Amino acid sequence: MNGSVNVSAGRSYLAIPGPSVIPDQVLQAMHRASPNIYAGELVEMTATLIPDLRRVARTQHEVAIYIANGHGAWEAALQNTLQPGDRVLVPSSGRFGIGWAEMAQGLGVETDILDFGNHAPWDMDRIAAALAADTGHRIKAVLAVHADTSSSIRNDVAALRRALDAAGHPALLMADCIASLGCDRFEMDGWGVDVMVTACQKGLMVPAGLGIVFFNARAAEARRALPRISRYWDWEPRANPEEFYQYFGGTAPTHHLYGLRAALDMIHAEGMEAVWARHAHLARAIWAACEAWGADGPLRMNVPDRALRSHAVTALRIGSPLGTELRMWLEQNLGLTLGIGLGMAPPRSPDWHGFFRLGHMGHVNGHMIMGLLGGIETGLRALDIPHGKGALEAAAAALAGA
Ligand SMILES: Cc1ncc(COP(=O)(O)O)c(C=O)c1O
Repeated sequence: MNGSVNVSAGRSYLAIPGPSVIPDQVLQAMHRASPNIYAGELVEMTATLIPDLRRVARTQHEVAIYIANGHGAWEAALQNTLQPGDRVLVPSSGRFGIGWAEMAQGLGVETDILDFGNHAPWDMDRIAAALAADTGHRIKAVLAVHADTSSSIRNDVAALRRALDAAGHPALLMADCIASLGCDRFEMDGWGVDVMVTACQKGLMVPAGLGIVFFNARAAEARRALPRISRYWDWEPRANPEEFYQYFGGTAPTHHLYGLRAALDMIHAEGMEAVWARHAHLARAIWAACEAWGADGPLRMNVPDRALRSHAVTALRIGSPLGTELRMWLEQNLGLTLGIGLGMAPPRSPDWHGFFRLGHMGHVNGHMIMGLLGGIETGLRALDIPHGKGALEAAAAALAGA
């Protein structure tokens, strides 16, 4: 370290795109003895989570909770709607679109992947052409990642619904909001989404461990038409349990439920519109700083067009090995952890070290983002990485609304 004094002691800051910073309220809610899972407070509290989850997803429809990460939520959505030999269309703008397609392949589902790479949003004309070409309606679902955490591209899910309707195509619209829920505006019912999957460790601010699937009547109908269904993944008893254990297909994730209760209280006390506005405002401060740094030197944002950027994660490239060097320096010297690049270069290739990501999802506010940006500015200086001037001023101006 150039300055020779290590200033990493103090509260560390995990600025990776999930798991996100856990609020003290959530941690405190989870710090308790195990409750009775057969009757009483936990059972009553769990029922209150369902309407509040619906309010986050902006849906009137069904909710099923799994003790799972996002991959489990992907699996649940697929298991309840498709059978081997079915076909899905997967427009992809990054690693997670491909990842959901691979989960489908693992279940014997055929995948038509429209790969738009790591830098471009969905091309709606190509999607429309793929739907129009499917005259026999073999495509049963479209798997759509709202914000791809690897590229930080945010796609237009409502436009996908319009494309399906314009083509008169009956495929289910299934959205992955694992990185966007509670960060970017998402309107499940308003946008005509049939199935939405999410997980609790990003915008919902809870430690990883809950996968949540929302589904409407059309999706429930697809589930009923299946010849058989895995007892474990079946969303029907989870959404409409006659006994408490059916919510979770077994023992409840007791402490996660208390954490989620606290997180939902925070989200709804702030209000969904305010939560989205906060994420958008903080993202603009980050973009302002990144644009200023990039005016001179190697740092570039992955998504040039602001309208296509996620408000929860920002993917950057800086050239190898500077990405890894910057991350390591910040963690070791400032107690600040940035996210690795994902899907931009093969993991063991030299190029892999040229990318990184900033997570700004969930429990983040202005001073945290200014700390994040001030940390990066410090690291760029310490490592002598060329960069444009005025990044922190630009971020402050964006936050101040100037
Ligand atoms: C958009 C998106 N989809 C799916 C996943 C997979 O979720 P998990 O790692 O919890 O299995 C992630 C994880 O980062 C994600 O960001």
